[in-house]
Amino acid sequence: MIKVGIVGGTGYTGVELLRLLAQHPQAQVEVITSRSEAGMRVDEMYPNLRGHYPTLAFSVPDVATLGACDVVFFATPHGVAHALAADLLATGTKVIDLSADFRLADADEWAKWYGQPHGAPELLGEAVYGLPEVNRDAIKQARLIAVPGCYPTAAQLGLLPLLEAGLADTDRLIADCKSGVSGAGRGASVGSLFSEAGESMKAYGVKGHRHLPEIRQGLRRAAGHEVGLTFVPHLTPMIRGIHATLYATVVDRSVDLQALYEKRYANEPFVDVMPAGSHPETRSVRGANVCRIAVHRPQDGDLVVILSVIDNLVKGASGQAVQNMNILFGLEENAGLAHAAMLP
Ligand SMILES: NC(=O)c1ccc[n+]([C@@H]2O[C@H](COP(=O)([O-])OP(=O)(O)OC[C@H]3O[C@@H](n4cnc5c(N)ncnc54)[C@H](OP(=O)(O)O)[C@@H]3O)[C@@H](O)[C@H]2O)c1
Repeated sequence: MIKVGIVGGTGYTGVELLRLLAQHPQAQVEVITSRSEAGMRVDEMYPNLRGHYPTLAFSVPDVATLGACDVVFFATPHGVAHALAADLLATGTKVIDLSADFRLADADEWAKWYGQPHGAPELLGEAVYGLPEVNRDAIKQARLIAVPGCYPTAAQLGLLPLLEAGLADTDRLIADCKSGVSGAGRGASVGSLFSEAGESMKAYGVKGHRHLPEIRQGLRRAAGHEVGLTFVPHLTPMIRGIHATLYATVVDRSVDLQALYEKRYANEPFVDVMPAGSHPETRSVRGANVCRIAVHRPQDGDLVVILSVIDNLVKGASGQAVQNMNILFGLEENAGLAHAAMLP
């Protein structure tokens, strides 16, 4: 059994880790932290876990206790893993960070977008960006994994085949993305109130969102050169889900894009290229570690429209984190992740 620790267990990605790991055949959660709820049993806070963790209780983060685990997930706001990762790595524990702390390769760029100096630039060289569809071999060797953000997962998986094949005009890519409210975490904020977010939809961060440099970095690596990207996130009145509508101009109209996408993801257990003409729905991935993609070229023009949906808390966070753990420890990649989505 792999001994698992979770820092930040009271948040949405933390409880999603608990839900997924409850059915994992080879991993056991030994430590889960919360500073505000230390001492409380996890199933008191989250009754959906009753019967799965009869004795597990939140404790304050402590490197010695966490360092006795084989792997520690950080389900915390940015800056927390910066402070603790080096000490944990020194104990031989692997670190899988769900926050943005190690996603950007450039410490100065991170500082610019997050408004504070990078707290552990010495670790950036070894941090592996945990998008298995791109970095599976590096993940196998990693000590420190940066799990991609939710919007970046949906946007990159949707655009990668086109960019890797050199088929898109990379000066003007557009990612028009919608997220459910759980993407903002469990912390109270006026914008997440039912009466503010319900029955309404709005864009935000048009000027520049923190996920923009992350998506751009991934697309740059796929294309082999700088890309121009406009990224517009929206808040929608649903709890879970990301819907990315991605636009790119193709430089060669003769290529069979459906075949290209099907080939690129043929061996990927968690990417589903839907039949031509499909319109994937966020509810078709709710609770499941899946990205469903459909590729369109309306009126046979040169503008490609790619639809990419994920559950922000699963393939966009905790499910992808468990997928990374499975790869890292040489387990079946779908261990604990094989269940179908919830529908309706
Ligand atoms: N929500 C999503 O859909 C999503 C998707 C992808 C990635 N992420 C990323 O995943 C991370 C967690 O997101 P979330 O939505 O689960 O957040 P959240 O609901 O706000 O939960 C944050 C957790 O971190 C703990 N925490 C806060 N400050 C801490 C500190 N200084 N030291 C130790 N623990 C601390 C909190 O517990 P205590 O304060 O009690 O210790 C809480 O359990 C964030 O970085 C987020 O950007 C979120």
